[in-house]
Amino acid sequence: MSREITITALKYNPSDENSTPTFAEYKLEETPGMTLYIALTKIKTSIDHDLTSDFVCRAGICGACGMVINGKPKLACKTLTSEFESGKIELLPLPTFELIKDLSVDTGSWMNKMSIRVNSWIVSNEKVDISKIEQPIEPEVAEEVFELDRCIECGLCVASCSTAIMKKDFVGAIGLNRIARFSIDPHDQRTDEDFYEIIGDDEGIFGCMSLLACEDHCPKNLPLQSKIAYMRRKMVGVK
Ligand code: SF4
Ligand code: FES
Repeated sequence: MSREITITALKYNPSDENSTPTFAEYKLEETPGMTLYIALTKIKTSIDHDLTSDFVCRAGICGACGMVINGKPKLACKTLTSEFESGKIELLPLPTFELIKDLSVDTGSWMNKMSIRVNSWIVSNEKVDISKIEQPIEPEVAEEVFELDRCIECGLCVASCSTAIMKKDFVGAIGLNRIARFSIDPHDQRTDEDFYEIIGDDEGIFGCMSLLACEDHCPKNLPLQSKIAYMRRKMVGVK
């Protein structure tokens, strides 16, 4: 049996000086298997053409549709409206990131700054010879690296982290996960001392308060806390 659901969403355009933050309420018929992506598309096409939110893949791959859904950071395309028994759903944009409009935030600039800050690339003195096959690594090491590479840059771990909300330069679980990924990869020649130079401070590994919210909200179930603990042990050992 279908039911009517009520979706409340923040409406605010910070680049319009006449705009003030308000909540808009939308009532719609729930359909079987309805996700927040489907519900928002219905609202945008038939109730409020002005409501702004981001989507690309609809399949939990692009990381674009993160928002706060009844108080928790989640992907709208992977969240069923039926999860909410009351039929009342409140939507807010992700905190920490710059608000573009309504439910749309700029995760890209944050991710770019973090990537540059942690040097998120392989660092090696080896000359790359593309005529040769890539230097092989042990399968279990490759698996561990691929596991950490599954991050989709959705920003949910950042939005759920108290340190990231308080300290704008904190690299977040995603940044620390990147460092762990490169420290495991034998293609990268950086030493623990080199990594310490990047994350050995309160905006890095020592800023994490181990509240676990990053891992609780990661839609890809990345082992964020164990990798943060792994890097912290390594960094504490650097003289
Ligand atoms: S670590 Fe998880 S929550 Fe954080 S950006 Fe990557 S996929 Fe999203
Ligand atoms: S639309 Fe791509 S992750 Fe949701």
